[in-house]
Amino acid sequence: MKAIVQRGYGDPREVLELGELDRPEPGDHEVLVRVRASSVNPADWMTLVGLPHVLRLASGLTRPRRRVRGKDVAGIVEAVGRKVTRWQPGAEVFGELPHGAYAEYAVAAEDALAPKPASLGFPEAAAVPLAGITALQGLRDIGGVRAGHRVLVNGASGGVGTFAVQIARSLGAHVTGVCSTGGVDLVRSVGADAVVDYTREDFTRDGQPYDVIFDLVGNHALSAYRRVLRRDGTYVAASGMPGGDVLGPLPYILRVALPSVRGGPRMKPLTAKANPDDLATLAKLIEADEVRPVIECAYGFPEIAAALARQGEGHARGKTVVTIAS
Ligand SMILES: NC(=O)c1ccc[n+]([C@@H]2O[C@H](COP(=O)([O-])OP(=O)(O)OC[C@H]3O[C@@H](n4cnc5c(N)ncnc54)[C@H](OP(=O)(O)O)[C@@H]3O)[C@@H](O)[C@H]2O)c1
Repeated sequence: MKAIVQRGYGDPREVLELGELDRPEPGDHEVLVRVRASSVNPADWMTLVGLPHVLRLASGLTRPRRRVRGKDVAGIVEAVGRKVTRWQPGAEVFGELPHGAYAEYAVAAEDALAPKPASLGFPEAAAVPLAGITALQGLRDIGGVRAGHRVLVNGASGGVGTFAVQIARSLGAHVTGVCSTGGVDLVRSVGADAVVDYTREDFTRDGQPYDVIFDLVGNHALSAYRRVLRRDGTYVAASGMPGGDVLGPLPYILRVALPSVRGGPRMKPLTAKANPDDLATLAKLIEADEVRPVIECAYGFPEIAAALARQGEGHARGKTVVTIAS
């Protein structure tokens, strides 16, 4: 099968090439998916460039052991393992893989997938899993967002942020989105009640208390976030200020996770993890027209290096998707 193969860590245009690999075989509880589309996430970029270095302890010291990137998948079940009960060949699915979607075929655990929302094409469906799950779990599970809450999404114009604004709205919250000037119209168009352009204003100084801050950037001191949270509010960190090439955002996330002795707002890190129930919840929100993926760019299979380079620039507006086969 054709796949985009990663030869080492570095610039996508230098380390990725179109290659031929053996088609993977599904294990007993796995499904072989004929991949129709995938998308690009910061996690793909990080494994591509091998940053922060600490991640290489898991992915491979000098080059990645798993050579095909791509976590989001939308496609058609081609074959199922001996003990799979949830799927039949021909089912249209979407979901999140540990890796491997930038290829004609990928193997998925049977519970990493859910039925593709019927109203979405494959590229749109591939925009949903990782970013949508992150937004859903960050707001609903960690943030405990409820109707009437004032919620701030820092990084509202990106892949996760555009889902987060819509999901917070669907939970009944009043939503403030923080983005740069170029993202203001987009963030308003996905339903933000208020938008803060961070190039002109600092939301940590506006004195309005929030019930939940969902942070996809991590560019302020923790004390600054506390200052604009209600005493019983919650700060959810999905990302953190990079602390250098070796550890990246890890020190920041550890600081968030440390129990506080001074009381006040809860400070919580997020590690999102896909599951079929949450994928089904996202599909329902999509079918109810409460959530739509925002697609910024669509690339073809041979152009994945360009799609990843775009991700690496760090100024995404919504999601970048990749069509693997039409
Ligand atoms: N913890 C988890 O489980 C988990 C899961 C998924 C993602 N993440 C992390 O969450 C972060 C966001 O992911 P993503 O997929 O949304 O990334 P993305 O699509 O690349 O979007 C990042 C967005 O942040 C904006 N931004 C940059 N600097 C900003 C600032 N100072 N204030 C406000 N916005 C700013 C960018 O736009 P402008 O540059 O135009 O402002 C861009 O729209 C990443 O760090 C990712 O690694 C964590």
